[in-house]
Amino acid sequence: MSSPDPASPAVPTHAVPTHAVPAVPAAPEMVAFVAALPKVELHLHLVGSASLDTVLALARRHAGRGVPTELGALREFYAFTDFPHFLEVYRRVNLLVNTGADVITLLGGLAAELAARTVRYAEVQVTPVRNRMAGISYDDLAQALVDGRALARRRHGVELGWVFDADAALGPDGAEQTVDFALGHRPEGTVGIGLGGAEVGVRRADFAPAFRRARDAGLHSVPHAGETVGPGEVWSAITELGAERVGHGIGSAADPRLLEELASRGITLEVCPTSNLRTAAVASLAEHPLPTLLAAGVPVTLATDDPGMFHTDLNTEYLRCHQLFGLGRAELADIARTGACAAFCADDLRTRILTEIDQLQPA
Ligand code: ADE
Ligand code: ZN
Repeated sequence: MSSPDPASPAVPTHAVPTHAVPAVPAAPEMVAFVAALPKVELHLHLVGSASLDTVLALARRHAGRGVPTELGALREFYAFTDFPHFLEVYRRVNLLVNTGADVITLLGGLAAELAARTVRYAEVQVTPVRNRMAGISYDDLAQALVDGRALARRRHGVELGWVFDADAALGPDGAEQTVDFALGHRPEGTVGIGLGGAEVGVRRADFAPAFRRARDAGLHSVPHAGETVGPGEVWSAITELGAERVGHGIGSAADPRLLEELASRGITLEVCPTSNLRTAAVASLAEHPLPTLLAAGVPVTLATDDPGMFHTDLNTEYLRCHQLFGLGRAELADIARTGACAAFCADDLRTRILTEIDQLQPA
């Protein structure tokens, strides 16, 4: 491993992932169905989407920032012991994104990946305050997003939207700065304001003023909540932050009244099973609350969160849900429809995706 940033705490590495993800042996017809199913990805972080190759290229471009520059060491670096460990690794990888060219590198790789999984539209979470801390000016970041979005459309036929997420670790002031960027620069494709990072010891409610300002200016509210804590923070996300969708929200499963609220108001949860396993937010996929959410009629879309770090992709998430929870073609197509309906994309694109899904309907 390259020498760590002396200002950062040590990050342990592990030869064997402690939360290994089971292999996905699915029938070839189901693999083909999922591969052909047109999809949207509504919970995906720009930095966490980078493939191992892309991160290696960035780590070599910006050596000495505490991220391994060799493949084997990088794989070990991505074996997370728990959620705080994941966030620390994520913070370090974020520091590799130093220039507009780095952002374009990430977006080019991401768009190619999305196109390969039949993803027509994705909302990408970008953390401008962290990017600026790594050395990118807001002007350069905004321009790179505009250029990268055009490239994704032109070269890969994938439409991108931006959610600018505040890192909870930077407190309400960081959230205000996030909103300053989102409203001050508002690069084409801007759709929402988010809130990521730790939940333990950080109340969603403290971010209400920043979210209010963003919502008043027309941005959608899509905070993470109930990823590593129970239903209380999901209630806060809805009541204090005006959440229209919730990132993860799996803690909702413990509260039948909350499930009813989500179902009746049509608030979609962006559920990322492999992420939850890899960060130890759930002990095993067999215990994942997805079936409880679906049984309660809560709208659910599947997503990858940080596919490069969690060694997954959207097709794999669909197939895992087929394998683990017995979701068949009709249920998977419904999940794809729920995503299209919950997306903050243009209506003509939504209609196109829904039509494509209908045309693929299982027999
Ligand atoms: N940032 C990147 N991935 C995240 C996650 N799963 N939860 C919170 N913040 C994140
Ligand atoms: Zn996330």
